Amino acid sequence: MTVTAVIGSQWGDEGKGKVVDFLAERADYVARFNGGNNAGHTVVNEFGTFKIHLVPSGIFSRKAVGLIGGGVVIDPAVLLDEIKLLNDAGLNVDGRLWVSPRSHLIMPYHKLLDGLYEEAKGAGATGTTRRGIGPVFADKVSYNGIRWSDFASDAFESRLKMQLELKNKIVVALGGERLDYAEVRDTYRGYYARVKPYLRELYSVVQDGLRANKHFLLEQAMGTFLDTDWGTYPFVTASTTIPSAASAGLGIPPRYITQVVGVTKAYTTRVGAGPLPTEIFDTESAVYQKFGEVAATTGRTRRVGWLDLEIVKTAAELSGVTELCLTKLDVLSGLDEIQVCMGYKLGGEPVRYADVDAYGLGEVECIFQSVKGWREEIGAARSFDELPTNAQGYVKMIEDAAGVPVKWIGVGPEREATIRR
Ligand code: GDP
Ligand code: IMO
Ligand code: MG
Repeated sequence: MTVTAVIGSQWGDEGKGKVVDFLAERADYVARFNGGNNAGHTVVNEFGTFKIHLVPSGIFSRKAVGLIGGGVVIDPAVLLDEIKLLNDAGLNVDGRLWVSPRSHLIMPYHKLLDGLYEEAKGAGATGTTRRGIGPVFADKVSYNGIRWSDFASDAFESRLKMQLELKNKIVVALGGERLDYAEVRDTYRGYYARVKPYLRELYSVVQDGLRANKHFLLEQAMGTFLDTDWGTYPFVTASTTIPSAASAGLGIPPRYITQVVGVTKAYTTRVGAGPLPTEIFDTESAVYQKFGEVAATTGRTRRVGWLDLEIVKTAAELSGVTELCLTKLDVLSGLDEIQVCMGYKLGGEPVRYADVDAYGLGEVECIFQSVKGWREEIGAARSFDELPTNAQGYVKMIEDAAGVPVKWIGVGPEREATIRR
């Protein structure tokens, strides 16, 4: 059996959705294990273009069974919309998509509080997706959460009542409008009735699958440097994003995760606040225009920067990456010179990512190396040999720095726009 984890090695949006979609052809199970609908994973394949937030991006492989682990937080309306979207596209996910009853529900007060906290923090705001992620995970670890399993008993009503008493006090204190118990209860009972056919304890599904040598493909949400512990705290998300999160979030023992694919964008992007050492600020520059992206979840403009190899190397070390998948190499075509950050200095001394906190990372000086670009469009290339020499050199420089081979190279958003080495 193989268990493959696909992780983002930067600040999210590396192209994980596309990579999971093309790796899913040989998967028996495709799974999400962390985060929630703060994730936005783009998939472009024969069914169309999709921005997926909760259902594993590997669901397009018809033989794959989709699992949403207990480590994922769920906004029921988003899940139901997504199921409908996929069923309407002819994918028929019924009977092959299972949601853990252990997963926590994003409640209306989580979204409300996320927004109110952001407003209250003003210039110090995190720039969250305002999907309620921080508040729902805070409730989870402070024993205030509501899970799907609570609907099986009277727990849902009593827990909701208690939570609304607490939360309404905070909501009102922060200038928000109090929520009505009966309204929230009825809405969520309605969601439960519709989600119930998809709920299933995943313990034996996972254990039986491991015993039967099935192939699991685990899809991380967010990126390594948004991890609560190892990211640029406090400019992070509220869940663990390194592969070990799949152990708690899905029930896969860590020793089974033998392949870790580090998805790495050929440049860097970040959404929200926090340090981005290689950031390009000149919004008029050609390179800024080239790298510019719109966030898949919130529609915000992503901040952009040159490739940062200290970040990629750290991610590879931290997560035990076995292969890299380099995405968006095609976007670099047409640049005469490309800057690459090889490491950092602080106060004239070399420092590594892990030596500084987020505020220190905001102060580091990047040691840039300038490499020659290439003029040719490479979107049609399907083998490494077809790439211009300088593009090949760029790939080799990345694998040398990270100490991990680049096994796949993305040259376009479509599933087939991928070079396998
Ligand atoms: P994710 O959150 O890691 O799944 O990434 P997003 O979907 O948020 O953002 C990645 C963006 O890059 C999406 O618009 C993808 O369609 C696009 N993309 C992924 N791989 C490639 C590639 O190799 N080339 C190009 N041009 N676009 C890509
Ligand atoms: P995918 O899976 C990029 C960022 C937000 C914000 C911080 C906290 O598509 O790569 P949150 O709403 O999680 O409390 O916001 O984390 N963030 C992401 N950035 N891609 C994502 O997911 C992200 N999920 C959260 O922009 O800075
Ligand atoms: Mg994304």
